Amino acid sequence: MKQGIVVRKLKPNDAVTAYALMRSVLPELMHRGLYSRESIGYDLGDYRPRNFVRYIKKKGGVLLGAFEGKTAVGLLLAFSEYGGLINIDWLMVDSNYRRMGIGERLLKRFEMNSRKRKALHRIYTDSEMSNKTAFSFYRKMGYENVATLKDWCFHENRYVWVKKLR
Ligand SMILES: CC(C)(COP(=O)(O)OP(=O)(O)OC[C@H]1O[C@@H](n2cnc3c(N)ncnc32)[C@H](O)[C@@H]1OP(=O)(O)O)[C@@H](O)C(=O)NCCC(=O)NCCS
Repeated sequence: MKQGIVVRKLKPNDAVTAYALMRSVLPELMHRGLYSRESIGYDLGDYRPRNFVRYIKKKGGVLLGAFEGKTAVGLLLAFSEYGGLINIDWLMVDSNYRRMGIGERLLKRFEMNSRKRKALHRIYTDSEMSNKTAFSFYRKMGYENVATLKDWCFHENRYVWVKKLR
């Protein structure tokens, strides 16, 4: 495990470093053929720093960062909660910091927070079907692959992952 990495909630003045991390990871995923140009373009627009600050301030969302000093090296972004389910929109770690347990720390912290919220009974998320790393990661973290969504958003193919909280 990498020393000196702090996992905490994002604050409004983290928006620039958080966005910088997205600007590095999302194009990487596109170049690896895991996401389309359209979906990456959409998310980079959606999370630009001014919007990011709004998301961070919005009640109900859970936005976590892994920080080395003031630099974000990992992010877990969850906004939508409905009927006892909470969705992870993005989970990512800087490519230079992978396989050091940071993704696991972010997810475990999120699960711990979610368990404290009595109304929540399940976490769900999705990953592109060709994203083998995400597949291994979510399986290792105890998520169940409950569905396959072919030709889904932006015509991508997705696995849906679920973990029961209680
Ligand atoms: C998926 C991701 C978040 C994992 O983060 P990470 O910090 O590297 O993961 P961890 O070090 O916490 O790994 C935990 C476990 O997941 C599995 N795992 C992680 N990366 C893996 C890989 N490349 N190959 C196989 N298994 C892997 C392993 O079982 C690992 O445990 P181990 O190292 O003890 O064997 C990271 O690879 C990433 O940011 N990828 C790009 C963004 C992405 O695809 N996000 C997921 C879809 S939203």
